[in-house]
Amino acid sequence: MSPVYVSQHPLVKHKLTLLRNVETEHKKFRELIRELAMLLGYEATADLKLRECSVQTPLATAPGYHLQEAVGLVPILRAGLGMVEGIHEMIPGAQVWHLGIYRDEKTLRPVSYYNKLPVEPTVQVCLVLDPMLATGGSAAAAVQVLKEWGVSRIKFVGLIAAPEGIETLSSAHPDLPIHLAAVDDHLNERGFIVPGLGDAGDRQFGTG
Ligand code: PRP
Repeated sequence: MSPVYVSQHPLVKHKLTLLRNVETEHKKFRELIRELAMLLGYEATADLKLRECSVQTPLATAPGYHLQEAVGLVPILRAGLGMVEGIHEMIPGAQVWHLGIYRDEKTLRPVSYYNKLPVEPTVQVCLVLDPMLATGGSAAAAVQVLKEWGVSRIKFVGLIAAPEGIETLSSAHPDLPIHLAAVDDHLNERGFIVPGLGDAGDRQFGTG
């Protein structure tokens, strides 16, 4: 089964509570998604590989490090978009590869509609970004695309998950680390995470 990391950071818990609140308006919601993505991204990148180097300070030469691996940020459209900016600020050299996947409202199955990945992989590590892991179908499909592209190290970074989504994703990809802010209680009959936070795409983009 996948290793599942649920952040215990007080800032994550505090900000997630604000995010869940039905009174939180779109602008604040987007800010919180960005901030939570930064915090979870920090935790999810703790094992990035480094190359030793040296750096000249104003006084002397000091030992230093550079990131060794090329990192890809892979938001699942639409809701994953809001998670890109914060992590991209911390890893400005990261590549951003969008995957368009929506969930069919009736079947709850993922439908892929956008993928412009080049033939050969250009990164070694990918962070798949999506605030919601509901049935897990969209995330599992995105990870499958990246595996077929040839990426060797993939992680999922989300905000909230239903137990059903974790089960599906980790069954499909047992080697995939899953980073979350919280695991919620269950999925309702419409496939919504309960208690959840509503529709993360609609709440970010004002379309709900
Ligand atoms: C939501 C969410 C995830 C997906 C999760 O996207 O942002 O991508 O559903 O559901 P799953 O785990 O059951 O696959 P949605 O289909 O609403 O598309 P949108 O982000 O474009 O609104």
